[in-house]
Amino acid sequence: MLKKLAIFASGSGSNAENICNYFAESSDIEVVLICTNKQDALIVKRAKKLNIPVHIFTKYELNNFIDLHKKLQSIDVDVVILAGFLLKLPSIMINSYPNRIINIHPSLLPKYGGKGMYGNNIHKAVIENKENESGISIHFVNQNYDEGKIILQKKCAISSDESVETLTEKIRELEHAYFPNAIEKTIKKLYK
Ligand code: GAR
Repeated sequence: MLKKLAIFASGSGSNAENICNYFAESSDIEVVLICTNKQDALIVKRAKKLNIPVHIFTKYELNNFIDLHKKLQSIDVDVVILAGFLLKLPSIMINSYPNRIINIHPSLLPKYGGKGMYGNNIHKAVIENKENESGISIHFVNQNYDEGKIILQKKCAISSDESVETLTEKIRELEHAYFPNAIEKTIKKLYK
C-alpha cells in the first residue's frame, strides 16, 4: 500500500528536493508534505516549484505537537523524514512515530553528534581535528539526540587541503546518492 512521507527541513532543502524527485514516479511512496519552521528558507521555494504542499509552523507548535500532529494525521503521514531539520523534536512527537522518523546527519555518528553539531560546525570540527575520514549517518530518531539506531553510514576521505566548502560538497554528494534509496529500503522493511 502507498506510504506517505512528510519531510521536515529548515535550510536549503537540497536533500528534500532530491527525495521528492526520487519518489516522483513511485507508486509505493509519495512525499505529501514539506514542513519547515523557517518561512524564508530556500526549501519553501523549492517545495512550491515541486508542487508539494508546505506547512510552516513555529517552535512552539512543534513542541506542543497538537496542531502539527493533527495536520500530519489529516493527510495520513506514515513516516517523517528529517532532511536538514535543525530543531530538536519533542518526546511526544517521537513517541507518536516510533521507528517512523528517519534523520540524516553529516558525520560518522557517534562522532560529531549532539547539541550544536550541524552543517558547517561539524565539517569545521572534523577538519580542525585532522580526521582522515568523515561521512554521513542515516538513522532512526529516538529520545536521545543523534543516538537512534543507525540505518546506513557512508564514508569519504579527508584530503590534506580539505576546506569546509569541499567537505560540504563531498558530504552532499553522499547524501544525495544514498538517502532516498535508504528511505525506500527502510520503508519496505518496516511494512513488509
Ligand atoms: C545536510 O548536510 C544534513 O545532513 C544536515 O543539514 C544539511 C542540510 O542540507 N543536517 C544536520 O546537520 C542535522 N543535524 P540541505 O538543506 O541542502 O538538504
